[in-house]
Amino acid sequence: MKNIVILISGRGSNMEAVVRAAQAERWPARIAAVISNRADASGLVFAAEHGIPTAIVANKDYASRAEFDAALQTVIDGFAPDLVVLAGFMRILTEQFVAHYAGRMLNIHPSLLPLFPGLATHAQALAAGVAEHGATVHFVTAELDHGPMVAQAAVPVLPDDTVETLSARVLQQEHVIYPRAIRWFVEGRLTIAQGAVHVDHTK
Ligand code: GAR
Repeated sequence: MKNIVILISGRGSNMEAVVRAAQAERWPARIAAVISNRADASGLVFAAEHGIPTAIVANKDYASRAEFDAALQTVIDGFAPDLVVLAGFMRILTEQFVAHYAGRMLNIHPSLLPLFPGLATHAQALAAGVAEHGATVHFVTAELDHGPMVAQAAVPVLPDDTVETLSARVLQQEHVIYPRAIRWFVEGRLTIAQGAVHVDHTK
């Protein structure tokens, strides 16, 4: 049984998708905890209702990024994670923190990386006039929104799209590819070589 710790900052719909898939598909894994950097993250309610231990490590309580990351790491490691899942966790992480979870921390980013790293990705996509937009699951490395990519999903950008309609279309795909990628990790199908991920589909 592998332990998964999920970090959220808000709504937590990706966390929900992961929890539901883990249960429905009977993964050899448990969601050991859901941790938020914001006490008002609504995703905490869903986690608690599903009997998942929750914790809050509020960044506003710490004077520096390094102190916050150190406190967060202590709480995460209390749940003995095999995998840390960033699910709408809106924090820039220190190199030390990222190095500690090297090869065992995944993120989902709402764009087809390497396009549109950072914030407001849907607005960036609309402004750029791309025909397709999407989401990427990747291992976390020190460089923001970089790191070996595990899965991507593309959606069309339609002529009358707004940030709201486009983000909703992308989010639907996030809920498909993130649980799938995490399941691959849990099943030991993922290896990283020369900065690229290989998925073993023979298992
Ligand atoms: C998701 O769209 C996720 O891809 C994005 O925040 C949203 C969180 O929604 N993450 C980032 O932008 C990270 N840079 P959720 O809380 O409902 O999962």
